[in-house]
Amino acid sequence: MRQTLVMGNWKLNGSKVMVSELISALKAPAAEAANVAVTVCPPVLFLAQAETELAGSNIALGAQDADVNTSGAFTGENSPAMYREFGVKYVLVGHSERRTLHGESDAMVAAKFAAVQEQQLVPVLCIGETLEQFEAGDTQSVVERQLQAVIEQCGIAALGKAVIAYEPVWAIGTGKTATPEIAQSVHSAIRAFLAKQDADVAAGVQILYGGSVKGDSAAGLFAMADIDGALVGGAALNADEFAAIIKAGA
Ligand code: G3H
Repeated sequence: MRQTLVMGNWKLNGSKVMVSELISALKAPAAEAANVAVTVCPPVLFLAQAETELAGSNIALGAQDADVNTSGAFTGENSPAMYREFGVKYVLVGHSERRTLHGESDAMVAAKFAAVQEQQLVPVLCIGETLEQFEAGDTQSVVERQLQAVIEQCGIAALGKAVIAYEPVWAIGTGKTATPEIAQSVHSAIRAFLAKQDADVAAGVQILYGGSVKGDSAAGLFAMADIDGALVGGAALNADEFAAIIKAGA
């Protein structure tokens, strides 16, 4: 039985006041939905504050990206080893904004995935197709290529200690959520692809959906057999909206 995981990716949003207010407002909804794993991913600068303010709650901490190196002359970067010191559990790798805006290749994403696991943290591997690829019917080949890059570098067993987030790029921040049926068909195909290489990994890995998830669309998505939670962007910045998504998973 896979636990429902609801992750809020705050992207480049936040202030000291917002971090305090949002965390404080989410503690009760997260506690009430004790069977849902809740995680927030603030910008790196707020990890220390978030760690302190999350203490005693059942909300976990995530980071939005990581460097492949542990330390050294890599100006501006943050390493998985540093995240460990701040109580981070999950690290997003390969978010479409990183792939598009920072030119991260499949191989780079796979290297980040490995670096995160080397520190015993859980990578959340983000995959998904663009609108053009969706309209060309290439969704499955794109997500399989993105998954295979990680499998080739890290091995299929590594996905058993990770989370997958399927995020169609055309649904991110656009208000266009994939229907539960479209998302389910891709999630099910992802699981079938993995099952050809390792049935236990395929059955156990949590596959989140991401892309304009809101309080009123979450329940329909979570009702699908292969959708194990959500990676939420915009709606994660609004306590009521994010609480409604958490509640939908309970
Ligand atoms: O990481 C989150 C996803 O990019 C989804 O963002 O909920 O604003 O569409 P969104």
